[in-house]
Amino acid sequence: MTLHQSLADTIVDGRAYADGDRIDAVFRQVRAETPLDVAEPEGYDPFWVVSRHADIKEIERQPDLFHNADRSVVVQTKANAAKIRQMTGGEANMVRSVVSVDGKEHKDLRGVLFPHLTPRSVRPMEEQVRKIACEFVNQMLEFGGECDFAKQVAFLYPLRVLMAFMGVPREDEPMMLKLTQEIFSGNDPELNRSGKQQTPEEVLQATLGSIAELENYFLDVTARLRDTPDNGLNSLIANARIDGEFLTRRQLLGYYITAATAGHDTTSNATAGIMWAVAERPQLFEQVRQDRSLIPALVDEGVRWVTPVKHFMRTATADCEVAGQKIAKGDWLMLCYSSANRDELVFDDPFEFRLDRKDNAQLGFGYGVHVCLGQHLARLEMRVLMEELFNRLASVELSGTPARTISNFVCGPKRVPIRFKAS
Ligand code: HEM
Repeated sequence: MTLHQSLADTIVDGRAYADGDRIDAVFRQVRAETPLDVAEPEGYDPFWVVSRHADIKEIERQPDLFHNADRSVVVQTKANAAKIRQMTGGEANMVRSVVSVDGKEHKDLRGVLFPHLTPRSVRPMEEQVRKIACEFVNQMLEFGGECDFAKQVAFLYPLRVLMAFMGVPREDEPMMLKLTQEIFSGNDPELNRSGKQQTPEEVLQATLGSIAELENYFLDVTARLRDTPDNGLNSLIANARIDGEFLTRRQLLGYYITAATAGHDTTSNATAGIMWAVAERPQLFEQVRQDRSLIPALVDEGVRWVTPVKHFMRTATADCEVAGQKIAKGDWLMLCYSSANRDELVFDDPFEFRLDRKDNAQLGFGYGVHVCLGQHLARLEMRVLMEELFNRLASVELSGTPARTISNFVCGPKRVPIRFKAS
């Protein structure tokens, strides 16, 4: 069996994720009728669509059986996958980073930042994060009652926090934002470099151009930080040694680029989505205003609601079986986090934004050995910003129509126009 062509084509169509309802409807049908089945969208190699929460966890629990490196970790057209292999000398992924390697290499690379991003290590960062959050809330209040929360707060605040911890100067933030948006939002004419709808080949070309710019930037960073180390995350990457050797050029650049892009765009999307949810639910706003201890639940439900990372791919390393389906060695599987986060078997009223979910089992940060390295920093950033916002706002509502980015990978709200009153 394979998925109906229209379902398969929709699952890779960034416009369906921008629409929201359209992708939700497709995954609802897939979960109900064929929760683990093969899709073959036009122009793509076939892959398994893993739509259920339990099946994603089962796969992520077995990293030796389901690899990240063997084929692209992001869904690519056949032509683009071939092009990437050609230009990397045979590797399946554009960058070699913690998210695109397996086994010992993954453990070693993850170990470079892991000790610095545990709940205990991020706790002392709270004071600096709160200072940055206050700057943004003050600035927002100066806008005089209306703003585009996505563009003017959510896309800038996590960027500033991350860049501060990485050790990137403020004047480089606009360039980092622009290149990140070009990498993750190549399908969206409002955010890509050309300003028009691009073909998959053009998207790949533009992404490679943005990656090359980041590589040049970070090559200089390595030289400087080896000479004069500081206590930023970039310095840890530049000076890390595995088995006594510095990281290879590709590992280094891949690490910086993954952290510098995935580390803020994801958090920005979740933050913008939380504001969208609050602004269209006066009761939710009032509930949290009355009881600030609900903010951690608001953040986790926000991550479930938005699911900023829509998928990652895995490749089977041997013949095996998942949920009664025979998977063959070499098969490609799409872990559909946005579907898992609406799974009726796990979440009551999955299409409702609720703060009373006990131990919210959302998979927005993934699961298993590759589970998000920055999840505790991301939660801290969002909690602190929400605390400062709820301290200062008397009311908030939508003042126009929000919109989401056109993308099937890392995305969420790109416009959240709000009207607010300070308390
Ligand atoms: C709301 C914010 C965030 C979301 C939704 C998110 C989501 C994810 C997801 C889904 C994965 C893949 C997990 C898997 O394969 O099971 C991941 C991995 C990763 N994330 Fe995040 N992320 C967020 C914030 C951050 C931040 C702030 C950083 C950096 C400080 C970061 C750095 C990473 C890295 C380095 C990996 C690769 C880990 C590995 O492969 O071992 N993320 N993230």
